[in-house]
Amino acid sequence: MDASDSLPAQLLAWYDRHARAMPWRVSPQDRAAGVRPDPYRVWLSEVMLQQTTVAAVKDYFHRFTARWPTVAALASAPDADVMGEWAGLGYYARARNLLKCARAVVADHGGTFPTSREGLLTLPGIGPYTASAIAAIAYDDPATVVDGNVERVISRLHLVETPLPAAKPELTALAARLTPQQRPGDYAQAIMDLGATICTPRSPACGICPWSHACAARAEGVQADLPRKSPKPEKPTRYGTLWLGHRNGAVLLERRPDKGLLGGMLGIPGDGWDGQGGPAPAPADWQPIGEVRHTFTHFHLILTVHCARLNAPPIRGDLIPRHQFRPADLPTVMRKAWDLARHTLDG
Ligand code: ADE
Repeated sequence: MDASDSLPAQLLAWYDRHARAMPWRVSPQDRAAGVRPDPYRVWLSEVMLQQTTVAAVKDYFHRFTARWPTVAALASAPDADVMGEWAGLGYYARARNLLKCARAVVADHGGTFPTSREGLLTLPGIGPYTASAIAAIAYDDPATVVDGNVERVISRLHLVETPLPAAKPELTALAARLTPQQRPGDYAQAIMDLGATICTPRSPACGICPWSHACAARAEGVQADLPRKSPKPEKPTRYGTLWLGHRNGAVLLERRPDKGLLGGMLGIPGDGWDGQGGPAPAPADWQPIGEVRHTFTHFHLILTVHCARLNAPPIRGDLIPRHQFRPADLPTVMRKAWDLARHTLDG
């Protein structure tokens, strides 16, 4: 590396050697040879990666792209299939918006993603971060991409002491000043990789960092303390009930309303733990069999699971034959309840 190179050039030289291989990524070598990323795959990966790790996303990405190889294929998929394939990934509003976005791309854009950041921002579920990421990675636009990794890198490089989230505008402005006109797509992925693999939260590997010579936090020895974060309010705990009814080898399930927690997902009928209230879904001799715990973004949830054989028709929900139901289609908290209760079911 030549010390007179600019910071972006130094990072790109590092990326040329150390870019992580990812199923949706075009390597810097292939990119230089003229290979263009598929905007559909870039979009899908970026939506999946919001609040979710690369390790958790990979299998989902493979399954989605095997089943729906194009945005048109995804747009024509039934809602229940897409929600079921998303189950376990969390933040289910992303899946509902994913479908809306795919259908808007087909209906309003002839099946091709808009190529500008502004055009991308008009689509459902595409906010400033995702629009910048797609513009940079898919179209090599010099858009500035700021995720948690980039916030960490920039706060250390420039020794920003303001705590997050208040520091976001300042970090975005500093990141924008660095964004190069040359290879902005590779650069966006390089700075995210740097944050994920070297400039890590607890013990950054400064000895092998291409930017360590310029890092103001390292010069002061405070790199591991940045970025500072305002304390988060403690999560409350909510309590509730799930009722898993069964009859002749069928189980009582319901599709949750589109709005609200786990919206649009298949579920075991519950009471008011999400603020909705409500009685058992069928009159029956309900027996508690245990509890499941799950933590959402803003609260912990403890649910008591009740089971019963149903002798009367349900008040709500649908009795679904076991062979028509994939437990993998349930969101994680429901899957935990299913795994607890399945042994008590007949048939
Ligand atoms: N995190 C989110 N998007 C990413 C990408 N394209 N490369 C690396 N990490 C990411």
